[in-house]
Amino acid sequence: MKRIGILTSGGDAPGMNAAIRAVTRTALANGIEVCGIRYGYAGLVAGDIFQMTSETVADKISRGGTFLYSARFPEFKEEEVQLKGIEQLKKHGIDALVVIGGDGSYHGALKLTSHGYNAIGLPGSIDNDIPYTDYTIGFDTACNTAMEAIDKIRDTATSHQRVFVVNVMGRDCGDIAMHVGVATGADAIVIPEEPYDIKEIAENLKQGFANGKKHGIVVLAEGVMDAEKFKDELLKYGDFDARANVLGHMQRGGSPTMRDRVVASEMGAYAVKLLLEGKGGLAVGMENNKLTHHDILDLFDAKHHGNYALYSLNKDLAK
Ligand code: ADP
Ligand code: F6P
Repeated sequence: MKRIGILTSGGDAPGMNAAIRAVTRTALANGIEVCGIRYGYAGLVAGDIFQMTSETVADKISRGGTFLYSARFPEFKEEEVQLKGIEQLKKHGIDALVVIGGDGSYHGALKLTSHGYNAIGLPGSIDNDIPYTDYTIGFDTACNTAMEAIDKIRDTATSHQRVFVVNVMGRDCGDIAMHVGVATGADAIVIPEEPYDIKEIAENLKQGFANGKKHGIVVLAEGVMDAEKFKDELLKYGDFDARANVLGHMQRGGSPTMRDRVVASEMGAYAVKLLLEGKGGLAVGMENNKLTHHDILDLFDAKHHGNYALYSLNKDLAK
């Protein structure tokens, strides 16, 4: 293997730059050249490919976003488009590819492997929704960003004795909501994976105010319901003042936390090691603090299991 390519795809996540750096520097240290591919699979097909050096990744570890840029490019689901991507890989002498992204991006990596190009996936997503890894790159930073925002919301909630329904990201996964809910002392956490009763949540919030609480915080995972609608439903049963707040894409930006930088660095180096062993079609993970890899294909049959103990814990802590 003489040259590898690297791209970031799907929703960006803090720590992607740290992962690109780790892949690049590990490859260079092993005498392998690295090509950066801009704009994910869209850039691959368009041939937006350039040679990277150690300097290319200098001063990037602390930066949010992805300096290789990302893209949603649904066209890559079509075989003829994948083959155009392969033509570009051949043209640039790229022997194998590292893809940093979420489960959608993994599908693309699998397709490339099935066409004979070894591709390895690194879990880059704030959602923490990927099977066979306890952490995805970006999850920790997104949780900290949401936590800090909710701490601020709580200040104004207390001043006005209000309830806030705060929508956090996570697509169909409740991991951000569960972690942030516990970390902010939320009165309720609502996630797609667990049943909920809006009337019961409203009764608990009323009881909280009756007990002397000055605010109510409901952390709502985006996959459940629109925050305004949830707030309106709550008000059918509660006599309190309430507001809805959507944190949105601020959760995807910002300088990565120490944890995301370290996990990204470890995973990036590990991916290159696997490629050096001639392996492909794999997804890298971190399970019980150990680096692991699984066939990407196995991921599509598996389900991510969040730490649902946090959900139960919060029910007790919120009382
Ligand atoms: P994420 O990787 O964060 O889950 P997406 O689901 O948007 O984000 O997927 C990112 C990109 O991966 C898509 O825009 C597309 O280019 C590629 N992709 C997604 N699904 C497939 C698929 N079934 N086959 C080939 N490529 C895919
Ligand atoms: O997968 C990351 C994520 O931020 C999800 O939490 C969210 O549902 C989605 O991406 C938003 O996607 P877009 O980039 O299209 O706004």
